[in-house]
Amino acid sequence: MEVKKVPEVVLNSGKTMPTIGFGTGTIPPSQTLLDAIDIGYRHFDTASFYNTEEPLGQAMSKSLELGLIKNRDELFITSKLWCTDAHHDLLGLAYVDLYLIHWPVRLKQDVEGINFKGEDVIPFDIKETWEAMEDCYRLGLAKSIGVSNFGIKKLSTLLENAEIPPAINQIALRWIYEQGAIPVVKSFNKERMKQNIEIFDWELDQEESDKINQIPQCRLLKAEMFLSDNGPYKSLEELWDGDV
Ligand SMILES: NC(=O)c1ccc[n+]([C@@H]2O[C@H](COP(=O)([O-])OP(=O)(O)OC[C@H]3O[C@@H](n4cnc5c(N)ncnc54)[C@H](OP(=O)(O)O)[C@@H]3O)[C@@H](O)[C@H]2O)c1
Repeated sequence: MEVKKVPEVVLNSGKTMPTIGFGTGTIPPSQTLLDAIDIGYRHFDTASFYNTEEPLGQAMSKSLELGLIKNRDELFITSKLWCTDAHHDLLGLAYVDLYLIHWPVRLKQDVEGINFKGEDVIPFDIKETWEAMEDCYRLGLAKSIGVSNFGIKKLSTLLENAEIPPAINQIALRWIYEQGAIPVVKSFNKERMKQNIEIFDWELDQEESDKINQIPQCRLLKAEMFLSDNGPYKSLEELWDGDV
């Protein structure tokens, strides 16, 4: 099979990142990750919350064994700090390529899963959490660091306090390759996995772009679960810095 070559961008850390990522927000069948590597995906998006770090680590070992890749450096792995975590797992790897703060939210440490109550959401300290991320970078545990689901106000606060600026703000929608953003796509169907990596082989014409631009945008994942009357976020406006 022809292995697709994906264009790369250079992050502010100087590291390169393939411009399409493979999403593992849902646990993939074991063969799917090997198929993805075989097709040409080199950038994989995981998070401790997804429970997909381990299967991804296993697929990476297997792909080395099978000779689909020659060494670990050929893959770009993103993982994310979950809201309860002071420390993180590293997929059995010495480092991740990109480590993100999953949400600008802090949950009490004993919270399990997504079934938490309003009082479990406690104030999130951007400065303190980012300092820990910077330590991960300095220790070489993460080659680049960034955030996810941050609004403009929170990003500004972070930039005022950061010694190392974030490389990425990953958001769940509003990404289109032609607009200079990097999609993270999830398909466990081999044909659709191929279709999604073939976006580099063709372009939208003006009429198609205009039609897509007319589609009203909305945030699919609003994350109401982090709101509570007495917590740090009382409204979606506060969570998303007004950009709901
Ligand atoms: N940072 C964050 O907070 C955050 C939030 C959301 C998502 N993410 C990341 O982004 C990834 C993708 O998330 P998502 O919400 O966009 O995806 P999703 O809703 O989990 O899945 C996308 C759906 O589109 C289908 N699909 C994929 N390619 C297709 C194609 N070419 N034609 C028709 N259908 C297609 C897939 O079905 P088949 O599998 O059957 O093809 C799947 O049902 C996640 O896995 C995760 O890694 C991050």
